[in-house]
Amino acid sequence: MERPRRLRSPLLRRLVAEVDLSPRHLILPLFVKEGGEPEEVASMPGVFRHPLSRLPQVGEAALEAGLGGVILFGVLPEEAKDPWGQGAYAEEGVVQRAIRLLKEAFPELLVLADTCLCEYTDHGHCGVVRQGPLGFYVDNDATLDLLAKTALSQAQAGADVVAPSAMMDGQVQAIRQALDQGGFPHVPILSYAVKYASAFYGPFREAAASAPQFGDRSGYQMDPRAGLWDALREARLDDLEGADLLMVKPALPYLDVLHALRERFAKPLFAYQVSGEYAMLKAAALRGWLEERRAVLESLYALRRAGAQGILTYYALEAARWLKEG
Ligand code: PBG
Repeated sequence: MERPRRLRSPLLRRLVAEVDLSPRHLILPLFVKEGGEPEEVASMPGVFRHPLSRLPQVGEAALEAGLGGVILFGVLPEEAKDPWGQGAYAEEGVVQRAIRLLKEAFPELLVLADTCLCEYTDHGHCGVVRQGPLGFYVDNDATLDLLAKTALSQAQAGADVVAPSAMMDGQVQAIRQALDQGGFPHVPILSYAVKYASAFYGPFREAAASAPQFGDRSGYQMDPRAGLWDALREARLDDLEGADLLMVKPALPYLDVLHALRERFAKPLFAYQVSGEYAMLKAAALRGWLEERRAVLESLYALRRAGAQGILTYYALEAARWLKEG
């Protein structure tokens, strides 16, 4: 008789466990603002908007935990935003300052920069908004220049990796060109290649005050009802445009996509466990409805099993601690 249980005794389980998860696989997203006090995000207990002055503490924690890196998101007061998102590519922008600060203090900490405009535009869209016959639209090609400028300014500040998330067609190519011409041919691009128009970004938009003021993002982010063809097409284009690392976002609802990309692309693959995924786990844990540590690690194991090399997760520091405790 076949008895799978023979391999489930403690010592055999340990021997045959294939899925490996370490702190080095985890990247911690950080919300950074200029000044003031750290503010907890209401829909993400345990996650803060950090003032620049707090970054050394957070950077040190990330380094000590052995994380793969941190990825930075800027948080601007409303009055600092404008229709073109100039805060995204300002030399003294909050993310540019945060990068310099972190890289000076911790050269061995990998610092990624999210490259998008929605945290910096007054309308909250990821690009330049225009009026068309059927209402507003986001002007793809006008946005490319601004994204390229943003990525270049992040590289100039010292970012190790830039991560475009605006879902404009051709953005990876535009950024690659700007980096190469600007003297940063060695800076890799982590492309949010497959990014769905998802309800699971809700808490992030509260955290970064980046919710669209009108309409939604379904004119540029992907339709969850589209078949695998759309994901494969997006990944193929970013692959050809020169992305170094590919990402799928959100994570757990799109394991099928993650797995499909793993099989088809010879590039490292990342998954973004987004704000809503964090919020669900945290909310249930706070009510005592889920055992937090086990549920979180199980979700991270699932992403590794499906083919993610790296995982962006707001749980990075806690998960690293749990993994160390064994
Ligand atoms: C910027 C961006 C968003 C997220 C990452 N980069 C927001 C969005 O697309 O609306 C969401 C991340 C999360 O929910 O944790 N475009």
